Amino acid sequence: MSFSKQHLLGIEPLAPAEITEILDLADQYVSLNRNEHKHADVLRGLTQINMFFENSTRTQASFELAGKRLGADVMNMSMQASSIKKGETLIDTALTLNAMHPDLLVVRHPHSGAVDLLAQKVNCAVLNAGDGKHEHPTQALLDALTIRRAKGRLHRLSVAICGDIAHSRVARSNIILLGKMENRVRLVGPPTLMPTGIADLGVEVFEDMREGLQDVDVVMMLRLQKERMDGGFIPSEREYFHRYGLDAEKLAYAKDDAIVMHPGPMNRGVEIDGTIADDINRSVIQEQVEMGVAVRMAAMDLLARNLRARRQSSQAKGMLA
Ligand code: NCD
Repeated sequence: MSFSKQHLLGIEPLAPAEITEILDLADQYVSLNRNEHKHADVLRGLTQINMFFENSTRTQASFELAGKRLGADVMNMSMQASSIKKGETLIDTALTLNAMHPDLLVVRHPHSGAVDLLAQKVNCAVLNAGDGKHEHPTQALLDALTIRRAKGRLHRLSVAICGDIAHSRVARSNIILLGKMENRVRLVGPPTLMPTGIADLGVEVFEDMREGLQDVDVVMMLRLQKERMDGGFIPSEREYFHRYGLDAEKLAYAKDDAIVMHPGPMNRGVEIDGTIADDINRSVIQEQVEMGVAVRMAAMDLLARNLRARRQSSQAKGMLA
């Protein structure tokens, strides 16, 4: 086994072999999830707490289902109603939860780096479910699994990530993962939505959709993350759709068998035309959701194995002392 991490905080610290191991195990969970009986016992007896400080539909549901299918006791903390509102710091909340002996903590937080900080204060496995504009590792892994299953490989592919790159943790995690697995990444969008210094990440940058999509294998669309914008980044949604919205005419520049992806939530008619999103011959958006459950099962399974191994070795050391 090569996956040796204590936490899943980002794609950055993962070796290519660790990424492959998560995806291989996730493939097995995809099969399990297609059965009528969807249970495996690998997290039995363990407690999983989901702490979402930001809104989420699919990520939270997917982590909850993943934990339940693996037999964990899963608790969803409603952070909107929590003591954070009464002024408690993130660290105090974490320490309080830690005293309840969770084994897996799944955290989404609006500030980049908040999940890393929290991981240093608790003695369970922490999974980053999205921190600010920083990373969203399980999203990149589920995207990778979707691509690998659709294309039969996860290397030497040309992938265009389009739209609001500047505010997107999904884009960041995907750029890092796809680079590690030796793919060519193109970023397509208006200069106002490109982060500074992006070319250092080894990507090609395009301002024009038609040029950017030319002959790519994968087209990944992103939502305009208005909640993270503090000013006029785009002239109007109509104008944005005209220049950057994915429609049949622009998609025709990609390879004939190119797949269309979107992490959700989608804004139809803004970054993507509804008919493209629903085209079962091109869009793998529903597959992405399916892969999300399997990838989260795989990640939690592997982290729990490492957690048990660490606990066993510290017990053994205690006995020797
Ligand atoms: C993404 C997120 O939260 O970063 N969504 C998701 O996890 N499925 C992307 C987004 O919010 O646009």
